[in-house]
Amino acid sequence: MSTLRGKVAVITGGNSGIGYSTARKLKEEGATVIIIGRSQERVNSAAKELDVRGIIADVSDLSAMDKAVHQVKNEFERIDILFVNAGVFIPMPVGQNSEEGFNTLIDINFKGAIFTIEKFLPLLNDGSSIINLSSINAYTGMPNTAVYGATKAALNSYTRAAATELAPRKIRVNAVNPGPIATPIFSKTGMSEEQLKGMGDMMQNRIPLKRYGKPEEIAEMVAFLASDKASFITGSEFNVDGGLNVNPIFAG
Ligand SMILES: NC(=O)c1ccc[n+]([C@@H]2O[C@H](COP(=O)([O-])OP(=O)(O)OC[C@H]3O[C@@H](n4cnc5c(N)ncnc54)[C@H](OP(=O)(O)O)[C@@H]3O)[C@@H](O)[C@H]2O)c1
Repeated sequence: MSTLRGKVAVITGGNSGIGYSTARKLKEEGATVIIIGRSQERVNSAAKELDVRGIIADVSDLSAMDKAVHQVKNEFERIDILFVNAGVFIPMPVGQNSEEGFNTLIDINFKGAIFTIEKFLPLLNDGSSIINLSSINAYTGMPNTAVYGATKAALNSYTRAAATELAPRKIRVNAVNPGPIATPIFSKTGMSEEQLKGMGDMMQNRIPLKRYGKPEEIAEMVAFLASDKASFITGSEFNVDGGLNVNPIFAG
C-alpha cells in the first residue's frame, strides 16, 4: 500500500492512542512520519517502536512549537499532512467546572490545536491535508463534557473557516469526530477503575454497534483524508462513532 508515498506527515500527540495508531498507518501507506509529544520518555519510546522521527513539544507552549516547527523545517523542509490530534479529556460537571480544568482544556485542545496549524502553515505544501481530531462531544450534550465539548466545537468552527481561507492554496482542512475509542485518554482523567467501568458500560449500551471503537478505525479515516483519494473533500466533518451521534432513545 502506498497511497501516501513521498508525503511528509506531522502528528501531534503521536506517542499514544489514536495518534500512535495513525503514525503507524501513515507510515504503512508510505509517508515519512514525525510525531510530536510533550514527554521526552514517551515520545522517544514510541518513535523507536514506530521507527519514525520524534520531537518533544507541548502544543500549548507556543515557543516550544516554534522550535518544533524550526526542527521540522531544518530536517524535512516542507510537509504535506498535518494531523492535529494532541488533546486531553477532563470530565467536569456544570456548576463544578474549575478554572484550572477550563484553562488546561482550552490551552491544549483549542489554543494548542489552532496554533499547531498557524505555526506549521508556512511549511505546508500547496495541496496539503490538515486533519483536526475533534469529537462527537462537540454535539452530544453528554454530561461532564460541557467545556471539553466546547473546545472541540470551537475546533470544528475553525476547521470550516480555515477550509475556505486555505482553499486557494488547495490545502484541504477536515475534522474527524470520534465516539468513544479505547485509548489511554480515560485512565489519564484520574477517575477510579469503578467510575471508568461505569462510564464504559453506560456508553457501550448507548452505542448502536455496542462497543468502543479502536484507534486503528480512526487511523483509517485519517489516512483516507490525508490521501489524494479525498481530493474533493474539505471543510467537512466525519463521525466515526459506531452510530452514537444518532443517540437513540430506545436502543435495541
Ligand atoms: N479516545 C476517545 O474516546 C476520543 C474520542 C473523541 C476524541 N478524542 C480525541 O482524540 C485525540 C487523541 O486522544 P486519544 O484518545 O488517542 O488519547 P491519548 O492516548 O491520551 O493520546 C493523546 C495524545 O496527546 C498528547 N498530548 C496531550 N496533551 C499534550 C500537549 N499539551 N502537548 C503535546 N501532546 C499532548 C498525549 O501525550 P501524553 O502521552 O504525554 O499524555 C498523547 O500522546 C484527543 O484530541 C482527544 O480529545 C478521543
